Amino acid sequence: MKTVLVLNGPNLNLLGTREPAVYGSQTLADVQALCERTCAANGLALDFRQSNHEGELVDWLHEAGRLQAAGQLAGVILNAGAFTHTSIALHDAIKGTGVTLIELHISNVHAREEFRHHSFISPVAKAVMAGFGVNGYALAIAGLAQLAETK
Ligand code: DQA
Repeated sequence: MKTVLVLNGPNLNLLGTREPAVYGSQTLADVQALCERTCAANGLALDFRQSNHEGELVDWLHEAGRLQAAGQLAGVILNAGAFTHTSIALHDAIKGTGVTLIELHISNVHAREEFRHHSFISPVAKAVMAGFGVNGYALAIAGLAQLAETK
């Protein structure tokens, strides 16, 4: 069974209490449970992580690239949080590993402040999803399952 690696960047550990009008009231643990259920329904295993540190996310993308090359990983779903709009390092890690990656945002970043409109992730992502709330995680897993033909 292939694995989906779901990576969450800075401040996503605050889900549930952080700006609930924008991000909803579900916690990151609730999102992980949703991802568990969705992966099980799609014939995939789940590896779910969060970090506030850019370098740790880079290391995890490198690990993902190795696992995908070994045929063990369907791909990565990345909510890079604010690093989306700033991180050339994440861009380079995705490009350098060639890992299949879906960029995900809970909110519709294009309907928000101007500084959220630019993404360093989008040019190296297979697909981009924004604005479905936390249910976007389930939709992204289903999309990745179709790409990887696990179901
Ligand atoms: C976010 C959108 C980003 O602009 C923001 O910095 C986040 C969360 C989202 O999921 O909507 O931390 O990625």
